Formats: sequence, structure tokens, C-alpha cells
Amino acid sequence: MRRLLTVLLAPLLALLPAPLVTGTAQARPQRQVTYDHWSLMLDGRRVVLQAAEFHYFRLPSPPLWRDVLEKFKAAGFNAVSLYFSWAYHSPRQGVYDFTGVRDLDLLLRTAAETGLYVIARPGPYINAETSGGGLPAWVKTVPGRARSSEPGFREAYREWLDRVNPIIARHQYGRGGPVILYNAENEYQVNTDAAYMQDIQDRARAAGIDVPITTNDCCDAGSWSSTWATGPGAVQIPGVDDYPQSFACDNPEEWGPWGEGLTERLREDIPVFAAEYQAGAIDLGGAGYDRCRELTGPAYMKFFYKNNLIQTGATMLSYYMGFGGTNWGWLGQPNDVYTSYDYGAAITEARRLTPKYDEFKRQGLFLESVAPLARTDPLAARPVPDNAALTTVARANPDTGTQFVLVRHADRAATSTDTATLDWAAPDGRYQVPVRVAGRDAHVLVAGYDLGGQRLAVSTSEIMTHAAIGGRDVAVLYGTAGSPGATVLRYDSAPRVTVLAGRVTSTYAGGDLRLDYTHDGLARVLVTGGGRRPLLLLLGTDEEAAAFWRAGTAGQPVLVRGTELVRSASVTGDTVRLTADTAAGEVEVFAPPQARRLRVGGADVAVTRTASGSLLGVTRAPAPVRLPALTGWRGRAETPEAQPGFDDSRWTAADRTTTVSPHKPRTLPVLYADDYGFHQGDIWYRGHFTATGAETSVDLNAVTGLRGDYLVWLNGRYLGAAAGGVQADSGDQATPPNPDPGPGHFAVPAGVLRPGADNVLAVLVATMGHNDDWIADDLRFKQPRGLVAASVGGAPIRWRVQGAAGVDPVRGGLNNGGLYGERSGWHLPSHPDRSWPAADPAATPLTPGVTWYRTSFRLGLPEGRDVPVGLRAAGEPSPGHRALIFLNGWNIGRYGADLGPQREFTLPAGLLKERGENTLALAVTAERPLPAGPGPFELFAYGNVRR
Ligand code: GAL
Repeated sequence: MRRLLTVLLAPLLALLPAPLVTGTAQARPQRQVTYDHWSLMLDGRRVVLQAAEFHYFRLPSPPLWRDVLEKFKAAGFNAVSLYFSWAYHSPRQGVYDFTGVRDLDLLLRTAAETGLYVIARPGPYINAETSGGGLPAWVKTVPGRARSSEPGFREAYREWLDRVNPIIARHQYGRGGPVILYNAENEYQVNTDAAYMQDIQDRARAAGIDVPITTNDCCDAGSWSSTWATGPGAVQIPGVDDYPQSFACDNPEEWGPWGEGLTERLREDIPVFAAEYQAGAIDLGGAGYDRCRELTGPAYMKFFYKNNLIQTGATMLSYYMGFGGTNWGWLGQPNDVYTSYDYGAAITEARRLTPKYDEFKRQGLFLESVAPLARTDPLAARPVPDNAALTTVARANPDTGTQFVLVRHADRAATSTDTATLDWAAPDGRYQVPVRVAGRDAHVLVAGYDLGGQRLAVSTSEIMTHAAIGGRDVAVLYGTAGSPGATVLRYDSAPRVTVLAGRVTSTYAGGDLRLDYTHDGLARVLVTGGGRRPLLLLLGTDEEAAAFWRAGTAGQPVLVRGTELVRSASVTGDTVRLTADTAAGEVEVFAPPQARRLRVGGADVAVTRTASGSLLGVTRAPAPVRLPALTGWRGRAETPEAQPGFDDSRWTAADRTTTVSPHKPRTLPVLYADDYGFHQGDIWYRGHFTATGAETSVDLNAVTGLRGDYLVWLNGRYLGAAAGGVQADSGDQATPPNPDPGPGHFAVPAGVLRPGADNVLAVLVATMGHNDDWIADDLRFKQPRGLVAASVGGAPIRWRVQGAAGVDPVRGGLNNGGLYGERSGWHLPSHPDRSWPAADPAATPLTPGVTWYRTSFRLGLPEGRDVPVGLRAAGEPSPGHRALIFLNGWNIGRYGADLGPQREFTLPAGLLKERGENTLALAVTAERPLPAGPGPFELFAYGNVRR
């Protein structure tokens, strides 16, 4: 789709005039965000923006926001990109909630406290595979095309912006906060309306937002920048989204099927902005997110990210996603995702670090440490490899002369390992250095760089980080295991070289100290004298480099090798204190020489001083944890609504004859659930009619979104189920909406009708969320949910409809649908279930309709630990039933053979009481009689670290 659009837009682009060049902002005011051709500047100081995307709404546990953001920071990210979901904050027109798990002040404060800048992305439309793309479902019932300036929608989106903008404004950089960019709309490239795009920006400015406004372009079109640069809607810094690996997680060997992933330079007066660069994938084919993590794994990251960095000189980078999270409640859009939004990201849904995180850290610390990269121009005089299989691309900083050379295969898909000698005319001289590149790998090599107090002439190892610590420089360089390395440093006179570990040879001639070695384990070289302060060079493999952390302190930074994660560090007197996650292993700290003692997480760690001048100790394994078995289930069937005598008099009468939806109903009244204020999950309908007795079939049509269904009863007799209609996803606006999207025809059984009397048709529709509005055509987004057509013979039917009973004040409007049990609070921990009979969901036969199961369990996880807990459904579920899973009242997932591949569900701490009593409730809807329901269920731990 994305690709298709690029192709469609290409001819259009050729007609565009050359980009306009506007003046650059070079002033150096205090607390101001400016930019020029090369980079963003904060108070005149250049920064390479390194952001990762995080959806707070997919992690409804504010204490865990800090955990994730600290993990971002520790990987070298200096920013977080935040979509703000309108739908998450507004259950009804005029009703907004910014408290509890929706507290944006807290979120933005947490980002600031973690040391991250913020790209604020309030939409109003965000996509992100959220229900309605972030547009609240009530917007489906207001007139005016969504994502346009048409009246109706205009009042609606202004309502949101006028609430969220002041929050963003007060956390701006200029006011001491972290927000440095404001992103307007999302991939707004087709069916556009410049007045709307301009109004979003005008309202931001009116709210006092003074940071640069950006937008993310889906399709390399340069929208809102070139033709439109001076016209309404143009933004200051347009950026481009790139997803070169596609979303084919079932084929993780893919290599850039959606292009080379080189972020275009859109204008000369702005930096190159990779507004969303692929860092994971939605699991379209249901392969599971581990495969998405393979598709977008370290090899992809090395090749594509480094290419982007050096070929296009992008200095504004935002990776989508850094952490994906969970589509809990009815947050997700139905077509592309299921409960988990793990995304195959570097940090898993259970907040665990993966090899992708290691690669982010290697690249992230490099960008953080090597300042000249923030201002580079292409360098024509690049070192040419003497093997045509390999090629180079180079950039140089015009102020310092520092060169950055990308070495990779000429054929980007090559899988062979090739070697070459680079003949390198570097700023400090001409060097012949060996390189070896594995297929689909890429290295960024640096020459002519003032590395702290040293002069790095050239190196074929990559720089991970370096820091001045206690009167010397400590540098971590790395390369692929087994590959040759050569590092040349400049000295006034021959320095003293002490190889502390590993095999490294050195020669000195003409001011050049040359070290030659093979990347193997972790070599350590101490260089002293030669007219410079001492240097400790740590030369490792990729894996060894990944073990390093860098943490700022009030004084000099410290480097740490080992532990699972270093969150922060301080040095006072003779003691280094680390806030770190630890398991069993070594911990080695490179700190100023006065430091003799180490405390990790409040506990002393015995250390010895190494020949490298570091402190070396060992952390113990945390004691294993035991999680309780899930026993003592009780069960209770519900579905009273199916019975003819059920009192529906307080339900909403569904009697409208018109709708603002562009999808017009085939039968009246209009039965669209949204039109009656019921927006998600299960929706009940009861239709009363006077039968003649001659009716032979019940003919219905319902739209649910992918994987939804509906169940039908007539006078209490179950007639069966049908699949609900899905989004007609041709992407082609000329194709009219499918008039018959989710048909169900049910024969009327003999003896069920009561001629001349009131007959009751009861229908339970499981809706699955709202379509997004990716192409801003309104048709997908405003596709109704619920019944869209109904007839029983020709008799008029008087309908009533019921969805969620109200808005949960803590969990919000997306937590519940309209099941009887939900309306009666059966999902809540407080519900008294003592009178329910014992019933094991995995061993109790199901009848059509809804059956609930509840159990409770007590956890006693130790303090000072991070033990992410999950719920696993063992065994293969049988088709025909689906379960909503509630943890302490929170709808944390949907499980079933018909609902996607997911069998494990994270139970985030906060919702989960780690030390206390927890309640699990399952609402199981069966389409047909089944010998047993879902399960058996068990708790499991994803990990176990001390904190
Ligand atoms: C982008 C979009 C994001 C998300 C992503 C796919 O194009 O801007 O919101 O939908 O695709 O996960």
C-alpha cells in the first residue's frame, strides 16, 4: 500500500518545482531550538537527534514509563517520540481525562527527569494501528470529513488540540521542559486539506508552542515542504517515514523489499529528518513478533541505519518503535494487529532487552560521543577499497575535517564476507588499512578525530564511546569477531604502549602509533607518554562492546562493563554508586582513581582494582521466584439478554432514520452502534416484532472489523453465528463500500415464532475496534460497527441497543464493551463470586453465549526485583470461542484460535499487584457448543533481575 502510493505520487513529484531555500537560523539564544542545513541546535549547540517511539497509552502503568524511558536513555537515545492519542483521552465529545494512566504532565516530567527530549505528536490523527487511528469513535458521528477543515470535524479536533496543546506548551524546551519538536498530523499525503494542516499549526502557535513544527511524510513526497512550503500547511521541518523491510515477518530473510531506506533531503535549509525509521514491524501474517524482531534485527539495523546516517547525512533520527506495548482494552485497530503490539522492538512488550537493543546502544553511544557527526557534508575523496565487492561512502565535518567512512558491499544484498585494503587520504596522512565486511554488514569508520585528549588518525574499528575519566581517556572500539583491526593515533614522540589483555602489536613511526590486532574478546591497551594524557583503549567484538554502559554523573561520566542495565551512576568520595539491573556476572567500573568502593542498587559489591585501573566485582544471581498455580476457578454463564423475558426497557431505543456516516444503511432504523454512543467491544441488540408466523429466515448484516463475529437468538432459541464484515481495503477510493459486508442468514426453526405476539430477536455483536483513516477518505474510518441491516420477513422491528454501561473512571472508556458481566462488574476484583460454582475453564463444556470464569492468586515478589509476569494459555485453543482477559478489572487481552497467534499476555506491574491479591476474570463467548473452553492458564516470569 505504502509502496503503491509512492509509485502513484512519483509522477506528481517530478512536476514539483525545486525546493525553496529559506534562511537558516544561526542565532544562539538561551533555551531555544533552532536548526540549519545540518542539524538541530539547542541554545546554538548542535545535536544529533536520536529518538525512539513510545506509546504511553500502550503501557497503562506510569511507574513503568520511567523504566522504559531509562532503558531508552541507557541505549544512547537522547529523545523520545510520543504520539498523543486523542481517543485515549476522550470517551465522549467534550469529555477529556488527563489523570492517572492518562497523566501527560507526569509523562512529560518523567521524560525530562530521565534526560530525554520529546518530539510531541498530538495528531489529531496518529495512525499507530490504534482504533480509528487515534480519532475517538464519537468523531464518527459528527458531520464533516475526518482529517479536514470541514465544520463538525473542525470543532471536534479543535476541542482536542485546545486541551493537549497547553500541556505540551508548558513542557517546552524554552520553559525548561523536554519538548523540542511538535509534529503536526501523520503521513498526511492524500486527500489533503491545507486549511486543516495550517489550522493545526496556528492553534499550536496560539497555545504558545514555539518549537519547530515538523510532519512525517509517508511516501518520500516532500509534502508540506516544497510546493507547499510557502503556502498554507507548510511545516518548518518536514521529515520522511521509511519502512524498508516491509512487514513480512514470516520472511525474516527479506532485505529491503521496500527500498534502500535512504531518507531524502527535502530542503536545503533544514536537516535531513528520518521522522519514522523502521525499527520493528506489525505482524500482518501472524508469524509472531519474534520473527518481526528477526526481520528488523541487528543485521538490518547495522546496514540500513548506518547507510542512512552516512549516505544522506540524516541528523534527526526517530526509530519506530523503541518499545511497542500492548493493545489493551479496545485500543487497537482491528485489521493489522492483535492484543500485543510488541512490534519486534528492541525492548520487548515485557520490557526485556534484546540483541536489537545492543545494536541501538552501539550506534547510540557512538552518536552521543562523536560530536563532529552533527555537521557533515558529502566527501568526494573517499578511500577506495582494492576489492570491487566492497564500496565506501564518505562524509566530513567542514570545521574539524573529521571523516566518516561507510564500508559495505557494493551489492547491498551480497551475503559473502569480503576483505580489502583501504587506501585512505585521511586528514592526518595517507593510510593503508585492512577491512573485512560480512555480507549485509556495514561499518562506519572515523579518521581525523580529536578523541578527548588524543588524536585518532584513523581506525578500522568502530567507535562505541569514549570519555575523559580521571585524567585519562577511556575509549571502547569494536569490530566483528575475527575481523582485522588497525588503529592509528598521533603522538609528539614515541608513547609507551602496554598491552594489558589480548594480542595487539604496535609500531611507531613519524608521529603515528599504529596498533594492529584481530577483534577477539576484549583487548586492552594502555598508552602513556608521547605528549598526551594517558589513553586506555578497549578493543572488543560487537558482543564485548554491547556489555558496556555509559552513565553521566555530576562530574565525569563512568563506563561500566557488565550488569543487565545501568540506569544511573554517581561518584561521591571514594564510592561509585550504580543504579543497575543485575543478575549473576561481573561488573567492572571505569571511574576516577579516587573511587575504591562500589555500591550497586544500595548493596556493597566487593571489588579489586584491575591492571586497567578499573574496579572489578561480581554480582550474585537473584534467588529464583515461584509463581502460584492458577487454581480455584469458578464459573458462571450469563447471556440473559438472549431470553425473551429480559427487561430491555432501559436500553437505548435504536430508532434513527439518518446517519452522518457515508455508509448508508440498507434497512431502517439505523443500527450503527456508534450513532447510539456505544463504541467498542460487545454490543447487544434486541429487536421486537409481531410475527405473522410465515417468516422463514432472519437476515442480518453486521460489521465488526477483522476477527469479529455475531451470535443470534430468536425467542431465546440460538440460531447460530456469523462472521462480521471487515474493512473493504482496496485502497482505491473509486470502489464503493461493500453493500453486504457481513451477511448472516438464519433459518427460523419450526415452532419458535409466536404469531401475533411480541417476538424477540437478540443479537450479540463482537466488534473489534475502528478502522484507521490512513488515506483520509473518511470511508474506512466511518465504516459503522454493529448491525447494519436486519429483517425478519417484512415485519417492522423495534430495536433497542446496549453497549458499555459507562466509562470506567480509572481504566477509561476503552476498557469495556457491553457484555452483561461487564455491565454488572464481573470483571472487577471487588465482585463477590463466592456463590459461583467451581469450574475450570479448560475442562468445562461451553454452550453458545457468554460464560465467565474467575480466580484469584496472591503474589509475593521480593522488593527490589524486576520480574515481568505473563499469563500463558497452554494448548491449542479450539476455534469457535474467544475470551476477554481481565486482570484486576483491566481488559489486558483477547485470546482465541480465531483472534490471531497470541498465546502469552503480559501482566504489567502496576495493574498486577506484585505483592498482593490479584483477580483474573475471563469472559468466554462460544459460537457453538464446545467440549471445553480456553486454557489451562499459567503464570510465568519473563525474567528476574535485581533492581
Ligand atoms: C507508519 C505510521 C505509524 C504506524 C506505522 C506502521 O506509516 O505513521 O503510525 O502506523 O506506519 O506501524
